[in-house]
Amino acid sequence: LNNGLALTPPMGWLAWERFRCNVDCKNDPHNCIGEVLFLEMAEKMASGGFRDAGYEYIILDDCWMNMTRDSNGFLIADPERFPSGIPFLSDYIHSVGLKFGIYEDIGTKTCGGYPGIEGYEKQDMQTFADWGVDYVKLDGCYKDPNTFPQSYPQVGAYMNQTGRPMVYSCSWPAYISGGNNTVPWQDIADSCNLWRNYDDIQDSYASLTEIVAWFAQEQDLLIPVAGPGNWNDPDMLLVGDFGLSYDQQKTQMAIWSILAAPLIMSTDLRTLEPQYRRILLNRNVIAVNQDKLGIQGRQIITSKDKGVEVWTRPITPTAKSGNTIVYSYAVAIWNKRDDGTPYPFSNPISQYGLTSKSGYFLRDLYTNQDYGFFLPTDLLTVKVNPSGVIFFKATPVIADR
Ligand code: DGJ
Repeated sequence: LNNGLALTPPMGWLAWERFRCNVDCKNDPHNCIGEVLFLEMAEKMASGGFRDAGYEYIILDDCWMNMTRDSNGFLIADPERFPSGIPFLSDYIHSVGLKFGIYEDIGTKTCGGYPGIEGYEKQDMQTFADWGVDYVKLDGCYKDPNTFPQSYPQVGAYMNQTGRPMVYSCSWPAYISGGNNTVPWQDIADSCNLWRNYDDIQDSYASLTEIVAWFAQEQDLLIPVAGPGNWNDPDMLLVGDFGLSYDQQKTQMAIWSILAAPLIMSTDLRTLEPQYRRILLNRNVIAVNQDKLGIQGRQIITSKDKGVEVWTRPITPTAKSGNTIVYSYAVAIWNKRDDGTPYPFSNPISQYGLTSKSGYFLRDLYTNQDYGFFLPTDLLTVKVNPSGVIFFKATPVIADR
C-alpha cells in the first residue's frame, strides 16, 4: 500500500501468540488481556532497549473489547480489564516514544467472538483515528472470503479518509491461501502494508518449519509483491517463548530477516532471559531485516539432498559493475538434519549466488567473526548446529563502503 508508511518491515510487539485470549484478570492480573499487560510491555519496550533497536508498535490483538458495542454503535474496551480506557493506553504508549496498534475483524465477529467491523467500517476507523491508533490489524473471521477483494480495500479507504496515518495489516490471504486457490497478491499489496499469508504460527519448531516451507514453495509469487510499503507476513516471532531452542530462535530471526518479514515479538519482555534478548536486539540481524532496498530474499538451496537449506537476500551496500548492480548478500545456512552434531557444510561461495569476480568479504552476523576474503570459487566450510543457522553477510570488494 502506497501510503508512505512501513517503508521497512514494521517492528513491534503483539499480544496474541504468547498471551492469547486470557481474559481472567481476577486470577491472572499481569498476564490477562488488560491494560496492565500493555502498560508493562510498553514500559519494557522503552526501558529494555527494544525501542532503541527499532521495535516501535505495541499492538492489541483479539479479546480487548466489550462483548457488545455501546448504544450508539461505538466500540468500547472491556471496562473491567481496561478501566482507564483505550485513549489513556494510547497516550501512555505515545508518551514513552512508541506507537499504538489495535485489532479488529472484517466480519460480523472477531475470531474470539467479539464485535466485528461489518456494518461499522467507517465509524470504527474514525474511532481508531480519534484514539490515536497508528496500526490496524484486520482479521478475517466471520466473513465470506469472496467479499475480501471489496471489503479489505473499502476499510482501507475509510482509514485513509480519516487523515490519520495508520499502517494496515490485513489477514486477507491467510483465509484463502492453501489448496488450489489463486491469491490476488498484487491486489492485496496495493491495499495493505502487510498481510498475513498463511497459517497462524504456534510455539513450536514444527510450526516454524511448516511456515517457512510454504514461503519457499510460493516464493516466486511472493517476492515480486514485497518492497517498501508492502510486506509478506509469516507471523510473529517466537523468540523468548517456550517452544524453540536457542538455536531454533536464531534460525527464526535469521529467516525472518531474509524474508523481509515484519519483526513482531510476542514474548514476555518482563521475564525475557538475556540470551534471547540478545537475539531480538542483534543489530546486525535487524539491519538485514530493515535493509532499505526492501528486496525479499529466497531459498536458493533446498534441504532435499543434504538436509541443509540455504537462503539469501540482496542488501546494501551495492556497487555498479558496467550496467549490473552488484549486491551485498545476507546468507543463512540452515541445518535441518537431526543427526545431533554440527554438520560441516562446504561449498564455493558462487553456489550462494556470490559471483562477483573481484570477490567478497564475509562476516558472521551473529558472532561478528570475520571469515575473510573469498573469491567466487573459494570454498567456505561452516559447521552448522542441528536446527540452527550460520548467518553471514557478504560484501563485494568493489562496493562503495
Ligand atoms: C487469527 C489470527 O490469525 C491470529 O493472529 C489472531 O489474531 C487470532 N485470529 C485472534 O483470534
